[in-house]
Amino acid sequence: MKTLAVDGVDLSWNGGPPVLTGLTVTARPGEILAVTGTSGAGKTTLLSAMAGLLPPASGVVLIDGDPLGDRDRAVSLGVVLIPQDNGLAAILTAAENIAVAVIATGGTPAEARRRTAEALEPLGLSGQADQLIEELSGGQQQRTAIARGLALRGDVLLADEITSELDAANRQRVIELLRGEATRGAAVVFATHDPEAAAACDRELHLADGAAVWARP
Ligand SMILES: Nc1ncnc2c1ncn2[C@@H]1O[C@H](COP(=O)(O)OP(=O)(O)OP(=O)(O)O)[C@@H](O)[C@H]1O
Ligand SMILES: [Mg+2]
Repeated sequence: MKTLAVDGVDLSWNGGPPVLTGLTVTARPGEILAVTGTSGAGKTTLLSAMAGLLPPASGVVLIDGDPLGDRDRAVSLGVVLIPQDNGLAAILTAAENIAVAVIATGGTPAEARRRTAEALEPLGLSGQADQLIEELSGGQQQRTAIARGLALRGDVLLADEITSELDAANRQRVIELLRGEATRGAAVVFATHDPEAAAACDRELHLADGAAVWARP
């Protein structure tokens, strides 16, 4: 299992003003790290850098001591991102979205079928497997994106506001599933503005005014 280290990074989009500066944080295997902060504080920006989507303007992102590289390399190293906007293909079914992702990361079709069913079940979506994403509710879409992330069994799991559209029972279930990923040995990073969800995590890094402070180290 792998450790993801963000070391002294400055992050900005397209050469614009810095969103975060001088940020250092490590995501360790077996733990859930909460990243909190108000809307626009930089949670998605930080997770984008951790996912290999946003190269730091300065500083480095390391995985087990080696530079993380771009998104393709991060994927090959087992860095899974559940994006804030779901990132699902609207004209594929829930099951197809998951199976395609499993196959794209090296799974066989048989594995893809099995892991898809196993991922949908705990999210209460077994009955929606063959429905198109565009025909699902917002919360069902969000749970499908979570199922896809879980099916990929990453070494690092980056979850960006993945409970924002869920009712209390589903929110609790998702937090349990994240705990399961950490117990499996993954390093889990969970961006959330929900204090209750953050309280269920092992540590909490709070972003404000372009900097990070440990709410709970
Ligand atoms: N893809 C992008 N391209 C350009 N600018 C971006 C992009 N994503 C975020 N930003 C900018 O970075 C800053 C921080 O936004 P970010 O999305 O990281 O905040 P956030 O904490 O995730 O907020 P929210 O809780 O609303 O999701 C904002 O000023 C935003 O406009
Ligand atoms: Mg965000």
